[in-house]
Amino acid sequence: MLRTPLEHISDAFQGMDIDVGRAAHTVTKALDYVGVDDKSHGRRVGLICHRIAHLLGWDRHRRHFILLAGMLHDCGVSSTAVHQKLTDEIEWNGAEDHCIRGEIFLQSFSPFESYAKAVRYHHTRWEHLPEELDQETREYANLIFLSDRLDVIFASFNLGHHHHEVLLHREKILGELRPYIGSLFAEHLFKAAELAAQKDSFWLELRDEFLDDAIFETLSSSDYKLSLSFDDIESLGELISYVVDAKSPFTHYHSLRVADLAYSIAGLAGYDNYHRRILRIAGLLHDVGKLRTPDEVLEKPEALSDDELAQIRSHPLDSKRVLKAIFPNTPIAKWASEHHEKLDGSGYPFGWSGDQIDMPTRILTIADIFQALCQKRPYRDRLQVNEVLEIMDRMEKDSQIDTDIYNLLKANKLELYQTAVREG
Ligand SMILES: [Fe+2]
Ligand SMILES: [Fe+2]
Ligand SMILES: [Fe+2]
Repeated sequence: MLRTPLEHISDAFQGMDIDVGRAAHTVTKALDYVGVDDKSHGRRVGLICHRIAHLLGWDRHRRHFILLAGMLHDCGVSSTAVHQKLTDEIEWNGAEDHCIRGEIFLQSFSPFESYAKAVRYHHTRWEHLPEELDQETREYANLIFLSDRLDVIFASFNLGHHHHEVLLHREKILGELRPYIGSLFAEHLFKAAELAAQKDSFWLELRDEFLDDAIFETLSSSDYKLSLSFDDIESLGELISYVVDAKSPFTHYHSLRVADLAYSIAGLAGYDNYHRRILRIAGLLHDVGKLRTPDEVLEKPEALSDDELAQIRSHPLDSKRVLKAIFPNTPIAKWASEHHEKLDGSGYPFGWSGDQIDMPTRILTIADIFQALCQKRPYRDRLQVNEVLEIMDRMEKDSQIDTDIYNLLKANKLELYQTAVREG
């Protein structure tokens, strides 16, 4: 009864060799969605850090380190409102939270663990850095802070000007930070920034068209290959899902629980453990595109306007783009991007129907609908299991969701409800 069209997943996906730099770049690109319209902040900060590190005379290893730490620095930010606050003010009282969260996220994935400490202190004044921090980490953290603030000023300048005009105003941009030498920023780091900023390329490469090329050019001169096991790949998935779920109280644990549900339902459907785990990763990341959806849209208690609905309907394709880059040659991006498709063709973004939607996607869709209904929403409280099933019965009757999979869910409703509502 259940077709399992999974043969096309190559067994090579038992693990993969990755380049840490490329992995950090891809993850950053995904997380930079939070910038909504300006979605290159993390990558620009990484590059700025690297260019300044050159002028500081740091060796290749340290330059590579700061490029990656710089790119990943804001991995604790998933709320568009927090992102806005961080752009509006040089120093903002609420900044500490995302530093702590970033540290925890990075610690959860061993290839990124070494960047956690620098990220933890990337909004701490130079004069207030904890004594016990070693000199190297102090410099890393403070260089990220400086580059980050420089980028924020640069980005706001860029909004109202042609890109080349920055060459005429670099003094003014740096000047805004000069009053903070010695307090917020270490003097020797600031001096190096001033030297770096004299080069035209420092500014021109920050342009979206040049940014990735500049980063890849820099990365290709380094060699930081490592082999990831399947466990590592899963924990990378978990790291990104924590960022997505932290976005809003209404999305807490959503990805994690959808992943657990998809894993359980796939088990009930007879999938082997390997394929269940791949589907679990798709569950963890299905909503990564929502990083781009403004918080106020996700948290709005009233009905959404057409414009807001259009923003929501964009997230599956954003997920696809990110996941194709992180997990090439796997069906993860496909499943994730189709989790709002319906069997009767009424879903989005592709409007697929019937056989165009494969079985793993149908499982993921049912897991997503079930979890969302079990979770508190801005416009209603958590529903009880029978209320949830009443709604889903109608969907099944209207031929929107897969009958066989839905029957499996119903037969195990209490256990799966517990999975769906678990916190932590
Ligand atoms: Fe930050
Ligand atoms: Fe930042
Ligand atoms: Fe979704």
